[in-house]
Amino acid sequence: MKKRLAIFASGSGSNAKKIVEYFKDHPTIEVALVVSNKANAGVLDIAKSFNIETYVIPSKAEFTQTETLLQELYVSQIDFIVLAGFLWLIPEYLIEAYPNRIVNIHPALLPKYGGIGMHGIHVHTAVVAAGEKESGITIHYVDRVYDNGEHLFQAKVMLEPTDTPAVVQQKVLALEHANFAQVIEKVVNTLP
Ligand code: GAR
Repeated sequence: MKKRLAIFASGSGSNAKKIVEYFKDHPTIEVALVVSNKANAGVLDIAKSFNIETYVIPSKAEFTQTETLLQELYVSQIDFIVLAGFLWLIPEYLIEAYPNRIVNIHPALLPKYGGIGMHGIHVHTAVVAAGEKESGITIHYVDRVYDNGEHLFQAKVMLEPTDTPAVVQQKVLALEHANFAQVIEKVVNTLP
């Protein structure tokens, strides 16, 4: 049986789309579920266009105080969870249920520019304000602290002094699209 992925995303889902495309017709891995905390997230339309099941988390309280989502993951027989622009902290019960089986992508070179509030364009604005000469991506395991888990992969991109946060965002997004699915493939293929 193929390993079954769930992708969690809060936004437009361009990374999710790349991952779904990469694993379409893959011999050992499939995307089986897309989870979002926003009922109108673009990522849900992408999932539906690929006939992938979706689940919308009805509220933050349901996410943090109940294990309804965990039941959904079990019903869908999910082996591995990918956070692709998912902005809520992952609760303890999920980390315990999926030890070393949840990965996140962060649009900067952690440990710099991580933590609460550091997501999306906020990250790139901070990178430009600090006059950084490079930025990049970090793919890491998820633990109880935002952007803290063991690193699996980093890639860098050079920045120009004239780059705006929006330009940095485009450069970093291109790196994410070029690498995320391949890193997931490597990790998932080592699962027992
Ligand atoms: C990605 O750049 C991802 O690294 C970032 O959100 C974006 C989602 O874009 N995640 C974080 O900032 C997490 N702290 P997408 O919806 O187009 O894939």
